[in-house]
Amino acid sequence: FHRKVLAGKRVLVTAGPTFEPIDPVRGITNLSSGKMGYAIARAAREAGAEVTLVSGPTALTTPYGVHRINVQTAQQMHDVVISHIRDEDVFIAVAAVADWKVVNASEQKLKKNTEGDAPQLQFEQNPDILAEVAALPHKPFCVGFAAESENLLQYGEEKRRKKGIPLLVGNIGHQTFGKDDNELVLFDERGHRRLPLASKQNLARQLIAEIAERL
Ligand code: C5P
Repeated sequence: FHRKVLAGKRVLVTAGPTFEPIDPVRGITNLSSGKMGYAIARAAREAGAEVTLVSGPTALTTPYGVHRINVQTAQQMHDVVISHIRDEDVFIAVAAVADWKVVNASEQKLKKNTEGDAPQLQFEQNPDILAEVAALPHKPFCVGFAAESENLLQYGEEKRRKKGIPLLVGNIGHQTFGKDDNELVLFDERGHRRLPLASKQNLARQLIAEIAERL
């Protein structure tokens, strides 16, 4: 994999979870480790691309040569992506973005009271970053991910169409969070194709080769 199949291309990757505050010390997040997104950013850079990685909170090291921008909330991830997107050739949305934010987050730490009342959190839907980018008039080549717990083959193709993107990657099996291996299925307008069990870094390289062929 030393052919620079993405030489001269700019690639933007989102990775990791988002963190939606409830108060200054608490929040809502998910189990994404960021490993798949970081592996993809690394593989894109190895393939010669200029890579920007917009990352939620993770414990991972920035891949060599990759420009990383840290964010916390889905709204921040959205704003960074939108402000960079016009220069990008490829957008790969790997982040597990929180679907909802807490609109009545507290400025001060929430306190227990003697009555035992629980806080009443109110939620509002976050922007769908991928769908918004895919709807831009001068959009980059967009790639999405899907982590379904059932009916992946049906839901995967439906999601690809609903988001309006040429390529969607499904995680086969839903216990991939935090692991170093994965098994994927690619959906495009011609159908679907499996990438069998392999390391996330190996799968990332295969995915980058698939993307490069489609540019
Ligand atoms: O709709 P769903 O969350 O299942 O779609 C997953 C895909 O959409 C992933 O590629 C994810 O990064 C992206 N996404 C996004 N912004 C959201 C929700 C999902 O970019 N608010």
